[in-house]
Amino acid sequence: MAGRKDFDLFRVSEEHDMLRESVRALAEAKIAPFAAEVDEQSRFPQEALDALTANDLHAVHVPEEYGGAGADALATVIVIEEVARVCASSSLIPAVNKLGSMPVMLAGSEDLKRRYLGAVARGDGMFSYCLSEPEAGSDAAAMKTRAVRDGDSWVLDGVKRWITNAGVSEFYTVMAVTDPEKRSKGISAFVVEKSDEGVSFGAPEKKLGIKGSPTREVYLDNVRIPADRIIGEEGTGFATAMKTLDHTRVTIAAQALGIAQGALDYAKGYVRERKQFGKPIADFQGIQFMLADMAMKLEAARQLTYAAAAKSERGDADLTFHGAAAKCFASDAAMEITVDAVQLLGGYGYTRDYPLERMMRDAKITQIYEGTNQVQRIVMARNLPK
Ligand code: CAA
Repeated sequence: MAGRKDFDLFRVSEEHDMLRESVRALAEAKIAPFAAEVDEQSRFPQEALDALTANDLHAVHVPEEYGGAGADALATVIVIEEVARVCASSSLIPAVNKLGSMPVMLAGSEDLKRRYLGAVARGDGMFSYCLSEPEAGSDAAAMKTRAVRDGDSWVLDGVKRWITNAGVSEFYTVMAVTDPEKRSKGISAFVVEKSDEGVSFGAPEKKLGIKGSPTREVYLDNVRIPADRIIGEEGTGFATAMKTLDHTRVTIAAQALGIAQGALDYAKGYVRERKQFGKPIADFQGIQFMLADMAMKLEAARQLTYAAAAKSERGDADLTFHGAAAKCFASDAAMEITVDAVQLLGGYGYTRDYPLERMMRDAKITQIYEGTNQVQRIVMARNLPK
């Protein structure tokens, strides 16, 4: 697997190409056959989790020293992209494992890293990320969940909303207020386990897309955790949460790329087969122009995403702009491309007998989560390139 060292280019290496080939083969054989059913039944893609875990692809970002595959940020993007190409819900397994565990990687003590990164790498449990609340979505610092120190423990109380993979994950990074006077500087991050007393979950949200990935509320009712489960220093949780998103917005861009590529590949095959007016509709220039535009937007989004992945790997100072730009651009491109792909199939694209309408519904979430694209523009405007 492509490694972390000497990562000074964003050129896709031979190792990255080989990784793509093997993930594509696995995704087509073991994940694609269940994608429509998972969507139709709104059920968790257990087959995907099993296949990804068996091939050490469920949390590729975990460094080798903690028992992980040690994939660099570009390799992680490629894994997510290839899984999303066949099933967006399943791609949330490697993506959210990275999101949930990134705060520990960035700011956790050595002991937390060893315990939790090791567990995720072994496949003992997935890791979710709990930032949003009913009244704190885009305005994340307005959160109300409280963490109060009590001797050797922290006691957490509150409600987290829109938590991806909630209920199936074993581990949760929870951002909570430790000093209400200080707004963002009074927020701290903690690791909470599903088995901690007082943790429970709401009913799964009934969503437009990514129906295979459960999105639920997480209730924290007097949850007492050992003091050493704080991630970093008290008051640093909001900064850690934002730094995490700088890295993981790149993974949402990857997901958007994968969904768009899946839609383009399917539509390309269809227009070559479908005959009207005595010839394949691919022979008409109107169709060719649509395909050209779709491929152009996709490639532009890919280049921006891979450049952002290289910045994520290197920890460049301008990652904040580039992570937001990649997520914003790639998700907008994926929306346009999937809408056009549905159009290319005409009436068939609008039915559930074909995968395009699912891809179009799945693409929509990439414009919304890990910060709406309006928030991405706020982030970009505050961090314009020099
Ligand atoms: N890196 C490091 N520190 C950062 C940072 C970054 N990128 N961004 C902010 N900070 C720190 C800074 O220390 C800053 O304080 P200073 O004044 O000392 O610089 C402090 O945080 C506060 O920052 P802001 O003043 O910029 O905070 P704000 O209240 O204006 O909010 C925001 C900024 C960009 C709108 C932020 O609230 C935000 O990103 N909102 C969107 C939240 C989001 O993305 N939610 C997604 C949930 S996760 C999800 O969707 C997952 C899923 O389902 C898969």
